[in-house]
Amino acid sequence: MSFAVAIDGPAGAGKSTIAKSVSKRLGVIYVDTGAMYRSMALYLLRNNVNFENPDEIATVCKGADITIAFEDGVQQVYLNGENVSSLIRTEEISRAASISSAHPAVREKLVDLQRKLASTTSLVMDGRDIGTNVLPDAKVKIYLTADASVRAKRRYDELTAKGEVCDLAVIEADIIKRDRQDMTREIAPLKQAEDAVYVDTSNMTIPEVEDKILEIVSQKQV
Ligand code: DC
Repeated sequence: MSFAVAIDGPAGAGKSTIAKSVSKRLGVIYVDTGAMYRSMALYLLRNNVNFENPDEIATVCKGADITIAFEDGVQQVYLNGENVSSLIRTEEISRAASISSAHPAVREKLVDLQRKLASTTSLVMDGRDIGTNVLPDAKVKIYLTADASVRAKRRYDELTAKGEVCDLAVIEADIIKRDRQDMTREIAPLKQAEDAVYVDTSNMTIPEVEDKILEIVSQKQV
């Protein structure tokens, strides 16, 4: 029987790093649902959609065919047949995805895809509403978070390591804004599921978080 590990939390909490390593240790696939919302945002931007107009978003999003594939065990996301996995990792897309993901038509389409995946295979899935909405029966639920200042510093270090010039205060303000949007939207807002284990990674190293999550998973006898 297939099982699911659901990891939710705000941007920059370390979800994808942890979900990737935990899925490897468990020998199951890792599904990054944020990448699906990012691909949809890319599609809407390419179609010059007015992000303030819900009707336009609802109509245009129908034309996006988002699929995922696993190549060498790594998730690749395809938008109408084009591999957009690397194109979606920009600050512009982060901002756009936070707005467009609040729309019901966008969520319906992507939640359906996420549930179909989980019904066919065991997986670790991360996002904002996996434990609360997409997979309410997931065997393990984790709410992974960290202080906004810590998350901003992690993002700043990531970008500067890639040679990008950025401003820590701007990144932190952006993170706080996205948290507010993701947590206060009407549909499937980011929140801890009642049966999720809360893990604050502010003062933890990546290996410490990995150990903690694997301990939680083994307690659930996955
Ligand atoms: O995890 P991420 O930064 O790649 O997610 C991008 C945006 O997508 C984020 O602002 C909120 C949205 N999202 C969502 O609404 N539900 C999910 N399950 C995953 C992401």
